[in-house]
Amino acid sequence: MSYKRKVITFGTFDVFHIGHINILERAKAEGDYLIVGVSSDALNFNKKQRYPIYPQDQRLKIVKSLKFVDYVFIEESLELKVEYIRQFSADILVMGDDWKGRFDDMEKYCEVIYLPRTPSISTTEIIEVVKNN
Ligand code: CTP
Repeated sequence: MSYKRKVITFGTFDVFHIGHINILERAKAEGDYLIVGVSSDALNFNKKQRYPIYPQDQRLKIVKSLKFVDYVFIEESLELKVEYIRQFSADILVMGDDWKGRFDDMEKYCEVIYLPRTPSISTTEIIEVVKNN
């Protein structure tokens, strides 16, 4: 059997939308096996001073149910990226290009690819639209 190229990516994936689908689909296309770190509620609170709309177990279940996602786990800390890459023996780290350059250090451990974001949609924007209507 030939070696499977493992791709790893991370995100909150709150109020799941087409931008999330697009990046996960394209991340999988970079390799053969896609691992997704879904950030914990506590991590999001520390970063943004608010909890996600959907709790972590629901966000995890949504991402896990996608046909191009092979494995999911809860990302407990932004500082543990190297440990997660090592733990899962990931060959490629995929991030949205909103993070461009920020993970170049990880090139010591795996290939790093930044993929373009889907224009004109984000969780923050959806929450704002719903609030204001
Ligand atoms: N993403 C994307 N295109 C979008 C929105 C998100 O490609 N329009 C990608 C991000 O680059 C990231 C992943 O989806 O790799 C998860 O992003 P996340 O932060 O959970 O989604 P956002 O919609 O950006 O959420 P927020 O508005 O809260 O930052």
